[in-house]
Amino acid sequence: MNVGLLGCGNVGAALVQLVAERGGQIKQRTGIDLRIAKVAVRSASKERDVAVDPSVLTTDARAVVDDPDVDLVVEVIGGIEPARTLILAALQAGKPVVTANKELLANVGAELYAAAEAAGVDLLFEAAVAGGIPLMRPLRESLVGEDVSRVMGIVNGTTNYILTKMAEEGWTYAAALAEAQSLGYAERDPTADVEGFDAGAKAAIIATIAFGAGVVAGDVYHEGISNITDTDIAFAARLGYVIKLLAIAERFEDGSVAVRVHPAMVPNEHPLAAVRDSFNAVFVEGQAVGDLMFYGRGAGGFPTASAVLGDVIDGAVNLAKGASASIGSFEAATIRPVDELRSAFYVNLEVSDRPGVLATVAGAFGDHGVSIRSMEQESIEDAADGAARLTFITHSAREADLRATLVELRGLDAVVSVGSVLRVVGDD
Ligand SMILES: NC(=O)c1ccc[n+]([C@@H]2O[C@H](COP(=O)([O-])OP(=O)(O)OC[C@H]3O[C@@H](n4cnc5c(N)ncnc54)[C@H](OP(=O)(O)O)[C@@H]3O)[C@@H](O)[C@H]2O)c1
Repeated sequence: MNVGLLGCGNVGAALVQLVAERGGQIKQRTGIDLRIAKVAVRSASKERDVAVDPSVLTTDARAVVDDPDVDLVVEVIGGIEPARTLILAALQAGKPVVTANKELLANVGAELYAAAEAAGVDLLFEAAVAGGIPLMRPLRESLVGEDVSRVMGIVNGTTNYILTKMAEEGWTYAAALAEAQSLGYAERDPTADVEGFDAGAKAAIIATIAFGAGVVAGDVYHEGISNITDTDIAFAARLGYVIKLLAIAERFEDGSVAVRVHPAMVPNEHPLAAVRDSFNAVFVEGQAVGDLMFYGRGAGGFPTASAVLGDVIDGAVNLAKGASASIGSFEAATIRPVDELRSAFYVNLEVSDRPGVLATVAGAFGDHGVSIRSMEQESIEDAADGAARLTFITHSAREADLRATLVELRGLDAVVSVGSVLRVVGDD
């Protein structure tokens, strides 16, 4: 089975090494003799971490796809073009494709899934979401008969590392980000990770596969972690919560779908609260199966290449049998606007410490139908005019009602400032 490899960076080089190390074992177990026949890169002269036979290296990726000796194509270049054109060409030529490219699938996945269906060949993408963790295949195959109502996960290791260091070491956001960058977890420009774009792309793919409804990156509501302060983390800890960046995909009874990424307070007892450092985990709620959790390394060359290799073997076995795994067909999802979504909220206010303030503030919540589950008051020691801090946790409330409450609170004389507002997830 001749593999045409497009890209030989973190993931591609790890795949070359895994095939070299495990090829014999794979042949024994599956009968498939894998050979990396051609490798496309941007620069042929670049030094590589892995020994690649110079005779198989090329800078012409299209020639790899078109090579009649190449049976199966692995795309680990990243980005939308030329990856999209190359994958379409491979599928149209009847060659199974394995990709780890979340950006591509979250934006033009529908076109690629349709091309794979039309050609009757595999398009496999286990590595595109949560790196080495098997998630796409369980959702596509094991759980295809399940009524999945919600998938909720920590799918970005960089932000989970930052939040873990803030919670456990008391670091500021800036210090934790700098450490993540020095360890190579975060890019020099960390926007895609810390503002939730990377998690949003993964959430779109998860929703598409879990619900069989087309969701693209632009459908995903997202907020990042760059405004989370060490004070928020400390408050959450005092109340029995940790702050995590969650990707949440939900399907409602009317068939509409909501997909969002935002920081949330998760109770210490929830399984996602125990997911530390750069680990990922995805929590799936199904009607018949109940709760499932998938946990492991969500990124890194070898964990990701492990998922790619599994797909390569699967695609090769299917090709040898003349079969393919159908993704199914689906229409664009009906997206429920974020204003209509419900969750509990944590709200932190600085108020004047005088009689009647609590009743006024509580009244603002009540005016918009937001009911309060718990409240704490404490004096702010260094405040000039005897200010106090009020922290509330609400019962489940509509986003729009909570926003209206915040507008009213900001207009009250008694309210000095509205501090952090965070959703509380996993208490239900
Ligand atoms: N790294 C991870 O932990 C991880 C986890 C999950 C998913 N992924 C996904 O896996 C994919 C690859 O990630 P990576 O970290 O391996 O990226 P990377 O280290 O930047 O490697 C990209 C590779 O593609 C090659 N390349 C770029 N443009 C090309 C072109 N036009 N033609 C031929 N080759 C080209 C580069 O060549 P040169 O070597 O010559 O520069 C390089 O070998 C991305 O879609 C990423 O989102 C990565």
